[in-house]
Amino acid sequence: MPPKTLTIEVKELTKVYSGNIRAVNGVDFTVAEGEIFGMLGPNGAGKSTIITMLTTLSSITGGIALVAGEDVAAHPERVRRAIGYVSQDLAVDDNLTGWENLFLQAKFYGLTNEQIGQRLKEVLTMVNLMDRAHDLVETYSGGMRKRLDIAEGLIHRPRILFLDEPTLGLDIQTRQEIWKYILFLREEVEMTIFLTTHYMEEADRLCDRIAIIDRGIIKAIDTPDRLKAEIGGDVITMTLNGSDRGITRAMELIKGLSEVRQIKSHAEEYIVIAENGELTVPKIFEVIRDTGMKITKITVKRPTLDDVYLHFTGRGLRDDVEGSKEEGFRQRMVMRRARRR
Ligand SMILES: Nc1ncnc2c1ncn2[C@@H]1O[C@H](COP(=O)(O)OP(=O)(O)OP(=O)(O)O)[C@@H](O)[C@H]1O
Ligand SMILES: [Mg+2]
Repeated sequence: MPPKTLTIEVKELTKVYSGNIRAVNGVDFTVAEGEIFGMLGPNGAGKSTIITMLTTLSSITGGIALVAGEDVAAHPERVRRAIGYVSQDLAVDDNLTGWENLFLQAKFYGLTNEQIGQRLKEVLTMVNLMDRAHDLVETYSGGMRKRLDIAEGLIHRPRILFLDEPTLGLDIQTRQEIWKYILFLREEVEMTIFLTTHYMEEADRLCDRIAIIDRGIIKAIDTPDRLKAEIGGDVITMTLNGSDRGITRAMELIKGLSEVRQIKSHAEEYIVIAENGELTVPKIFEVIRDTGMKITKITVKRPTLDDVYLHFTGRGLRDDVEGSKEEGFRQRMVMRRARRR
């Protein structure tokens, strides 16, 4: 196989906001042409900051970033011609029709009126909104708005599409629908896609490779499968009932089992990484039988990206109160609509 062409190359990329906030702390990565590359991380990890630097919307403090072969700092206008960007917040105007929203965007890109008609039909068909094109956006569902948002990023036929949290705040059904369009863009239009997310399932389903980012630092980059394999065994999760001393003793005994690779505790649960989880569970029961401890719950599973995330960051993604972020997003949408009335 010929080597893949790299379409994004980033070295030591750094962003320090005023107030000495080091949002991105020297990250390195590459994205190949036609790849779906994801950045997975909690609130404040630096995902949007990386996207705004790569899309030339914010300046780079240090390091270098090449996008579509162009240096973002030296030739921002060349980069802009090659990319599409869909921000974390919805950018479409509720008081216009889908067609009108796209028309304005096309004008912004400097397309002629003849080009516009053709191109708008093309992108609206891509996101399956042709039959609702002349309805006001306020009558659209959340998923339709997001699709229109994505269509805006596609008007000038970019080679690389940047999607910042493409399904934030959407219900699972709508999220799956957006995933379908993202996969379509890669398969049919051969677009390179760079996305950020804090949804594990999204990263797992869509991305060829994932970078796990935490507090401005990339902790790991690989395919979802290889990241899971890094865990090095099955994941046994259990809760125990008994004295502190009993728990300490139980942990020592479990650690002594030949299958067990690692034990850690997280949010009142003990997580045991072990070769052959199904065989290890009865052994765990056996060794702690005489410690006076009670296992109140125990489960075994193959590692998921959740486990990978915990492994690399020492935190669970859910620790970051993801609910409040979605709630914040919904509130902003409600306020925007209210302001327009
Ligand atoms: N314009 C700004 N000025 C100062 N600090 C900022 C600015 N934008 C972001 N930050 C800070 O930089 C850090 C990274 O923020 P960023 O928005 O890149 O994170 P994120 O991973 O996209 O988070 P989220 O999941 O909430 O969207 C945070 O500490 C944030 O408060
Ligand atoms: Mg963000």
